[in-house]
Amino acid sequence: MAQKIVAGNWKMNLDLEQSLQLIEGLNTKEFKNDVRVIVFPPSLFLQPISAVCDGSFELGVQNFSENEKGAFTGEISINQIESVGGTVGLIGHSERRAYNGESNELLKAKVNHCIENNFDFIFCCGEPLSVREAGNELSFVKKQLEASLFHLTADQIAGGVIAYEPVWAIGTGKTASVAQAEDMHMNIRSWLNEKYGAQVSNNVSILYGGSCNASNAKELLSCPNVDGGLIGGASLKVDDFNAIIHSY
Ligand code: 13P
Repeated sequence: MAQKIVAGNWKMNLDLEQSLQLIEGLNTKEFKNDVRVIVFPPSLFLQPISAVCDGSFELGVQNFSENEKGAFTGEISINQIESVGGTVGLIGHSERRAYNGESNELLKAKVNHCIENNFDFIFCCGEPLSVREAGNELSFVKKQLEASLFHLTADQIAGGVIAYEPVWAIGTGKTASVAQAEDMHMNIRSWLNEKYGAQVSNNVSILYGGSCNASNAKELLSCPNVDGGLIGGASLKVDDFNAIIHSY
């Protein structure tokens, strides 16, 4: 069984005081034991958040370097992240692909760097609107996975996490329908099955992201092949995020 996960990607929102207030509301230890909760604040606030986190959830980073250390101005390393309590990184978010020019090759290097360092990651994929409208979303997403993730061995990908985030649903208030989400997730699971077999494919968590909120989470997260959510805007509101976690 794939692990259920609810993750909050804060993106470039909240100052330190607001971040700590939000964390206070999440420090409840009331989350269901079978749901893994991960919060991705701005990296700048990892240390102060980590200092007050009561262990109810894990902390992750929205971005990190594919290099170990050295002269890479503005970058942060996995080692540095771990030293302030971060345990997981996002890779391949569509905003970083679009605004920071992150290529399939770079994402593959980040995946490899995580594997070498035994550092957990969530690999994001998803098609833009034009691709969906042309009916090519399955081949588009499959290519993203083949380009940067499916070179891993079965041992390496086992227990991994993929997030399907259709670009047209991110921050738009327009979610994928239950049928659209389930169809893509089912296909991702079947590609994993073809390449790695049933044991691996059943254990990889596949999260949905894109305008998931307290009102629609129950429906989306109850799809058979949806193992959780990667939440943007709604993760900035403590009641909404808690409601999404408790929709399981
Ligand atoms: P929204 O939930 O704001 O649409 O963002 C989704 C997302 O990009 C999470 O990584």
